[in-house]
Amino acid sequence: MTKKKIEGIEACVFDAYGTLFDVHSAVGRHTDRLGDKASAVSDTWRTKQLQYTWLRSLMGRHEDFWQVTGQALDHAFEMHGVSDDALKKDLMAAYLSLDCYPEVPEVLASLKAAGFTCAILSNGTPHMLEAAVESARIEAHLDRLLSVEAVGIYKPDPRVYQMGPDALGLSADRVVFMSSNAWDASGAAAFGFHVAWVNRFGQAPERLPGSIDSEIPTLADLPALIGR
Ligand code: LAC
Repeated sequence: MTKKKIEGIEACVFDAYGTLFDVHSAVGRHTDRLGDKASAVSDTWRTKQLQYTWLRSLMGRHEDFWQVTGQALDHAFEMHGVSDDALKKDLMAAYLSLDCYPEVPEVLASLKAAGFTCAILSNGTPHMLEAAVESARIEAHLDRLLSVEAVGIYKPDPRVYQMGPDALGLSADRVVFMSSNAWDASGAAAFGFHVAWVNRFGQAPERLPGSIDSEIPTLADLPALIGR
């Protein structure tokens, strides 16, 4: 994987969950109520949430990400022997105000100051994205919040990534897409975006189509990578 600068970029498009927002911060706020099951519940919740998006897309049975997130949480609770309706309600509410990663506000502000268009392109519903962005106080740095609900299918279907060029009026090679989810980075690269994989968790690369331009540990390295 090359680390050379990515040239010709006009817009920065970000995945939301796991990339800008810490999905584990929801359970993190309620660890006292889950005890030693907390991290297993959080991991299962996220894993199932993603699996359900892929499976529903293959089945042609789309439901929005709020429904899927709730269904994944139901599964995680049952799998780990948790039965607590009040906790489910609180965890779902926490999903609307997830912590953003610490470098995110400053990086977005500096990209905007440098003249880049900034957008989110996510599985989340418009309501979920608006709530999370507002709660993290990063709405002023984002020009567009693009939700898969506009196309009714989940990542990594190319129709999802096509929303970027369509909404921004740019060809795909003018866009750099950032995701910490390696499969999403591959999907975006296979579509034709430039891609910086934000490998926050030190994961091994996926063996999937799509040539990723660069791997960075956090978004803090992004401005230098695309600097004009
Ligand atoms: C999203 C998922 C992939 O935000 O995290 O689209």
